[in-house]
Amino acid sequence: MKLFKFFTQELAIDLGTANTLIIQNDQIVVDEPSIVAINRKTGETIAVGNRAMQMHEKTHESIKTIRPLKDGVIADFQAAESMIEGLINMIESRRTFFGHLKMVICIPSGITEVEKRAVFDSADHVDSKETYLIHEPMAAALGIGLDVQEPIGNMVIDIGGGTTEIAVIALSGIVCDQSIRIAGDEFSSDIMNYMKRQHNILIGERTAEQIKIQVGSALQVLDNPPDDCYVNGRDLMTGIPKQISVSYQEIAHALDKSIAKIEEAIIRALETTPPELASDIFQTGLYLTGGGALLRGLDKRIAQKTKLNVHVADDPLRAVVRGTGIALKNTDKFSFLIDRKSI
Ligand SMILES: Nc1ncnc2c1ncn2[C@@H]1O[C@H](COP(=O)(O)OP(=O)(O)OP(=O)(O)O)[C@@H](O)[C@H]1O
Ligand SMILES: [Mg+2]
Repeated sequence: MKLFKFFTQELAIDLGTANTLIIQNDQIVVDEPSIVAINRKTGETIAVGNRAMQMHEKTHESIKTIRPLKDGVIADFQAAESMIEGLINMIESRRTFFGHLKMVICIPSGITEVEKRAVFDSADHVDSKETYLIHEPMAAALGIGLDVQEPIGNMVIDIGGGTTEIAVIALSGIVCDQSIRIAGDEFSSDIMNYMKRQHNILIGERTAEQIKIQVGSALQVLDNPPDDCYVNGRDLMTGIPKQISVSYQEIAHALDKSIAKIEEAIIRALETTPPELASDIFQTGLYLTGGGALLRGLDKRIAQKTKLNVHVADDPLRAVVRGTGIALKNTDKFSFLIDRKSI
């Protein structure tokens, strides 16, 4: 048995719309954007992760960059497989390893059976001998440190790149959940549209992302406001590059409608929560994870709307992969893990 263990390599993977993270031996060994650059002519993978992101929106006719996941699900299976393979091969020890590979992969809760099968197929492709899937809100709850097996209800809100998943978890199961396709990507496109409408300036996805991180806000008034940021883009009228400055109030305005939709989904989830669990949530509050949890003032805004306590997870971008790592160590105990036989 020991010898067998020695030849086992175990990986926990958070396959996200924006970022893919991998844990091996309790360490995060991969933390890269979910993107792949492909040679259009040969179909060959040129780069994955950060290197591919540097090429994004700057490609020419023989290279294309693909974000294989959209709205939390795999939109391009072939590209997803190349990306997973490329990211796994970044792990030093992987390239020289030929033993038993075991993986737990985190997937969005709204994923279909066909999509689940596609994730299993991608795992087979990298020679995984033992693969389990875990739903993202469950992984998020584990990563925050909640005891998901207890008969106590907890509400977790994971705001990622593609989806916002809101789930009540108790007794090792997801009691009720709401998944909406409004999250970080939608915030970025709100910012791009706002810049076009208000300032007549065209900006790319990456610039919108930087603005969101530098001056993103969910509230018109912040206790610790960030300085205005400078934005470079192309003037719609003249076609010439220009620079403008943007304040956090403007971004709060641009994001307002999308955030209101997230608030509505939270309210819907609370309305469908069975009363005994609702009473637990009144005590425990709401937990925010995912990159969107870092948006300034979002916790305060949700707290004002729901009159509940809102906690932001430590290092929210990594809570899901940490939880997936916990699942990896407990595959024999956690009944909620999905294996190929169960689909
Ligand atoms: N400081 C920040 N403020 C606002 N948004 C941020 C911040 N940092 C990261 N984000 C956003 O968080 C999103 C990525 O979060 P995360 O890595 O949790 O998503 P994901 O797991 O890849 O997506 P999903 O779970 O939807 O598949 C991106 O849209 C990114 O722009
Ligand atoms: Mg995620």
